Amino acid sequence: MDHIIILGIESSCDDTSAAVIKDGVLLSNVTASQAVHEAYGGVVPELASRAHQQNIVPVVSEALKRAGVSKDELSAVAFTRGPGLMGSLLVGVSFAKGFARALGIPMVEVNHLQGHVLAHFIKEPDEVHASPKFPFLCLLVSGGNSQIIRVNAYNDMEVLGQTIDDAAGEAIDKCSKVMGLGYPGGPIIDKLARQGNPKAYTFSKPHIPGYAYSFSGLKTSFLYSLRDWMKDDPDFIEHHKVDLAASLEHTIVDILMEKLRKAVKDTGINEVAVAGGVSANNGLRNAFREHAAKYGWNIYIPKFGYTTDNAAMIAMTGYFKYQDKDFCTIDKPAYSRVSI
Ligand code: KG4
Repeated sequence: MDHIIILGIESSCDDTSAAVIKDGVLLSNVTASQAVHEAYGGVVPELASRAHQQNIVPVVSEALKRAGVSKDELSAVAFTRGPGLMGSLLVGVSFAKGFARALGIPMVEVNHLQGHVLAHFIKEPDEVHASPKFPFLCLLVSGGNSQIIRVNAYNDMEVLGQTIDDAAGEAIDKCSKVMGLGYPGGPIIDKLARQGNPKAYTFSKPHIPGYAYSFSGLKTSFLYSLRDWMKDDPDFIEHHKVDLAASLEHTIVDILMEKLRKAVKDTGINEVAVAGGVSANNGLRNAFREHAAKYGWNIYIPKFGYTTDNAAMIAMTGYFKYQDKDFCTIDKPAYSRVSI
């Protein structure tokens, strides 16, 4: 039997990543992150594109080397077509198209958001891996998205609800910036929150119907509350850092889980996964575990390495699409905005 060997390439934001999957098993996943953005408190698109240009060839070479696979053995090249930053995407898309064309093998376009969801199917060598069963619900929470997705099949996903303004990760990052913490704020807030009291402060929660999310009101409530408290104590943030972090995280997790509970109840689907950068959050992971125990959900929490942007999830999605012969042509441009 011929092997199916997929090279995956991810460059949608500030991580340049390449991975190799052979017959559904991950052989390598190499990521170059870009520290250059830390000084700016957010990703600077032009700097991200330039760093991708420098990183893409070494990262792909390293991924092939670690997998022990020669480029001539590849069956296809899968790449993130969008959504993401256009300048960043263009580097990966152009490289992938050129590489596939030079090797005379198919190219497979991947929707980055679908990649996050299908990260749950990444299987490492010798790993006993439990993947969600279809249909399942996936809470996709990242710096750019907060949505509840009904996943009917690898190639059939339906957004039940999504944020009408900021994403959860964006809200955490902005609140962390207000507190004078570094970027990205998510991991910093997560660490501080472990030592604080989650019920020390309350911030406003949105009241919107259905499965939609909103985080901009919380951000404002956080900012205005801090301003008030700092009138009496200019060093309020420094004095109450851990409780502020814990209360902020608690509020965000509460908002996320409330809608997810509703989706589980309404659909009757109790296979529930979480994905995206914010799924690294310990408070959210604990909330998933508590819901599993309390409501009998079968939960799927990704390994830390597969929460943030990575090419393993792109190669995995490419592997499924390859089997469906779902190839793309060279004229398909990158897209900065697209739904799942
Ligand atoms: O999926 P992702 O890597 O990429 C984009 O959306 O671009 O998500 C990044 C987001 C950021 O907002 C970051 O602060 C957040 O995920 N994040 C976390 C944690 N780790 C990353 N948020 C909360 N807790 C964490 N441990």
